This record gives sequence, C-alpha cells and structure tokens, in this order.
Amino acid sequence: MKRNFNRRDFIKTVALTGAGVAMGDDVMSSILTDRSSSVLHKAPICNPMQKVRIGYVGVGLQGTSHVENLLKVEGAEIVAVCDIVEGKVQRAQDMVEKAGFKRPEGYSKNEFDWKRLCERNDIDLVYTATPWQWHVPICLTAMNNGKHAATEVPAALTMDDCWELVETSEKTGKYCIMMENCNYDKVEMMILNMVKKGLFGEMVHAECGYLHDLREVKHDMEGEGLWRRDFSMHHNGDLYPTHGLGPVMQCLDINRGNYFDCMVSYGSKTRGLHEYAIEKFGSDSAQAHEKFILSDVVTTMIRTMNGETILVTHDTSLPRPYSRNILIQGTRGIVRKYPEPKIYIEGVSKTDDQWEPVNNYLKKYQHPIWEELETASKGAGHGGMDYIEDYRLVNALLKGVEPDMDVYDAVAMSAVRVLSEQSIARQGKTLKFPDFTRGMWKKPRELMVMKS
Ligand SMILES: NC(=O)c1ccc[n+]([C@@H]2O[C@H](COP(=O)([O-])OP(=O)(O)OC[C@H]3O[C@@H](n4cnc5c(N)ncnc54)[C@H](O)[C@@H]3O)[C@@H](O)[C@H]2O)c1
Repeated sequence: MKRNFNRRDFIKTVALTGAGVAMGDDVMSSILTDRSSSVLHKAPICNPMQKVRIGYVGVGLQGTSHVENLLKVEGAEIVAVCDIVEGKVQRAQDMVEKAGFKRPEGYSKNEFDWKRLCERNDIDLVYTATPWQWHVPICLTAMNNGKHAATEVPAALTMDDCWELVETSEKTGKYCIMMENCNYDKVEMMILNMVKKGLFGEMVHAECGYLHDLREVKHDMEGEGLWRRDFSMHHNGDLYPTHGLGPVMQCLDINRGNYFDCMVSYGSKTRGLHEYAIEKFGSDSAQAHEKFILSDVVTTMIRTMNGETILVTHDTSLPRPYSRNILIQGTRGIVRKYPEPKIYIEGVSKTDDQWEPVNNYLKKYQHPIWEELETASKGAGHGGMDYIEDYRLVNALLKGVEPDMDVYDAVAMSAVRVLSEQSIARQGKTLKFPDFTRGMWKKPRELMVMKS
C-alpha cells in the first residue's frame, strides 16, 4: 500500500541517516504527521446482523468477566474460545454451555492458536483480553481475516502498531475497537451528559489518571502478575492512561472537532515495588533482587488543539486508595469525582464557591444509557460498566451502526502511553501527536453514546 510504503520508507531513511537526531524528535514527529496527511480515510462498514458471533481470546480475569456479560446480551453468541491455559478454555466452554448455548470450540494448542480462531468463517467479532503485547497481533489477524476486532486496554504499545491498526481497519473496512469500560461508569456518563448540555460552559481543563496500588498484583506469581511486573521492569511511562483519558476525551470532543496537540511527561523516583518486595519476601529473596524502572508516579500534561490542558497521572506502585482522579473544568463550573463526586456550577450551586454533592444532579442529568441498563448491569464487573460496554458493542454491530469508540480513539489514547515513554527518556521533552485521523478530527461529530 502506498501510504505504508511512504511512512515506513521515511522512518527507515531517518533512522539510516540519523536525521532524527539532527532534527529533534519533536520536529520529526511533525514531519511524520505531515507525511500521513495526504491519505484518505475509508470508513469501516458494518451491515446490520441478526447475531454477533464472537471468538474470545484470553479468558483470564477480565476475559472471563466479559464472557459472562456477553452470555446475557441478547444477540451475542460465543462460538470459539482461546487461551494458552487449557483449563481456562474449558471453564469458559462450560460457562457458555451452562447458559444454554452450544459448546464453543476451544483453542489452546500454543500462544498463536488464536490465528486458527481468526481463520474460522463463522465469526463476526474477535474480542481479546490477553496481556498487552498480544492485542495488536490478534486485532490485525482478526481484521485481515474479515472480522471486527475488539480489545481490552490499551490497544497498542508502539506508534508503528497504532498506525498498523488504523491502516488495517481502513483497508479491511473492519472496526477495531478499544474497550474502555470507564467511559460507561455511572458518574463519568452523568458528567459527560452535563458537559454536552453545556452546564460547565466551554471546556478549559481536565485531570484524570490511573492511581491504583498494584504492588500486590504485580508481585503475584500467576495471572496478571506474570506480565504486569515485567512491564514495570522494562518500561518507564504512563503504561495505562486509558481509564481516565477515555471519559475526558469524550468530554473534550477529541477526534470529533478537537485533537491532542502535544504532551510532556515526567517520572518520579522508583521505590515502591522494590520496597514492597523487601517487606513481603525479605531482602534475600529473588523478588528483592528484581530491578524496576517504572517511576512510582508518572505525570503527563497534554495540550489540545482547542486550547484545553489535561493532567494525566499514573501511580501504581505506592500505597494509596484507588482513584481515576477525574476533574472537568469549564468557564461556568467544575466537577471532580474522587475521593467523592463533587461539583460547583456558578449561578446554579446554592452556595457561592462551595462544592456540593454530584448526586444533587442525578435525577436531572443521569445519562439515558444508565436509565436503560442499570438494572440489567447489576452484579456485573466494575460496578456494572463492563456489562454496559459489552451490551453497547454487541448492539452497535447488531444495528449496523458505528460503535461508541473507533480505531482513532483507540490509537489516540494508546499514543499517550508511547509518547510518555519517549518524553521521559528525553528528560521531559514536549512531543507532538501524530494525526492518525489525517485531518478528520477537525470535523465535529456527535458521540454515539449521546445519540442513542
Ligand atoms: N478494563 C478493565 O477494567 C480491565 C481490568 C483488568 C484487566 N484489563 C485488561 O485486560 C487484559 C487482561 O488482563 P487480566 O487482568 O484479565 O489478565 P490475566 O492474566 O488474568 O488474563 C490474561 C489471559 O490471557 C491468556 N493469554 C496469555 N497469552 C495468550 C495468548 N498468546 N493467547 C491466548 N491467551 C493468552 C492468559 O493465559 C490469561 O488467561 C489486559 O489487557 C488488561 O489491561 C482491563
């Protein structure tokens, strides 16, 4: 493909001549943006379906929870399940059968067995909740085999992979969706509804992040611990920006009339995981000799094309209560979600300059999707939002309408992770975002979650 050739050719030339160093990476990033601006976008196509036949890859903690949700969504059918652990495949097969469906075909021969699953001709959607490094190869193989792809967060780990996802989605006409469940949280959806109704005035600033004490999880010798710890040993950046950024992006119309312009990240010292290992396992233990490079706190500042600022925090190696630190501020008011949801709107809040509980606004501004799905989502993962995201995905495909999040949303959020590593490695260099949309972001577009 011409576009592919030009971009890669350019990267190769820059690498060979060392021109990137001479020009400065921020300038190089701008040139890459320009190189891609000539490409035309072809929107993925999705005709209505009577059933969404799903192949599920990675049925660990989060994947099993999605399978459970999908079994309750009318029109969804799980026809194949893949995991490298045979017992997990069998557990998922049993779940599907117990729910009254045909036993799905199992794939657990090796770590590439999802390829065979993608090649089946009776699947519409390949949905993966594998460790991060598998998301891109699985999504690409799914789309290249004529299937829509959905992946757990984050979608991609490198800038090249971000482009691969965009190009493959455009070339094959298949959706590539990053499943950001926090976009469907009750409070975040209510805030979005209030933003779109203009309560906060014009957007000016936002804050968000992933602030979660993962020391125990990362030191686990099975499941998530196996791969999350490894990333903390080899990467220093905001490894997981999407939970906070997803809802904020929607409030700021990113990819729908606005776009990320540039960003800078700084990393703090690295202490938490090592100290935890000494405390838990002793100073002579193998764990105490493991070396981590991930900063305990990574702080990123993003500036948008429309002039807003976004402060993003990644904080997963220190003792602390959970937070996504959501804050939205406009010319008329401000809302913050943690520690508990509070709001102030000039001329509306009863007391001047004082926070009031967000719940005062619930009756009037509850998002319609929560009105519709709250009962059905009860008991599902992460306070019900996981069910709502799975329901919305399946129903978009059934109806043949654009899903709530597209490939451009997936890569914009993933790019924050990539650029934060690059920025920290360059002592806090401000870096420009590539324009994955090639100018399409300029066109205002309503979010699907505000339409239906
Ligand atoms: N959105 C959320 O709130 C949320 C919460 C937890 C995890 N996640 C995401 O879900 C994904 C999985 O996380 P998890 O906590 O479920 O981890 P996990 O380790 O419990 O599950 C991953 C599963 O993938 C399987 N696997 C590994 N390599 C594979 C391969 N090559 N082919 C097939 N299966 C393979 C593992 O055996 C395991 O069962 C990650 O991307 C993570 O970021 C999201």
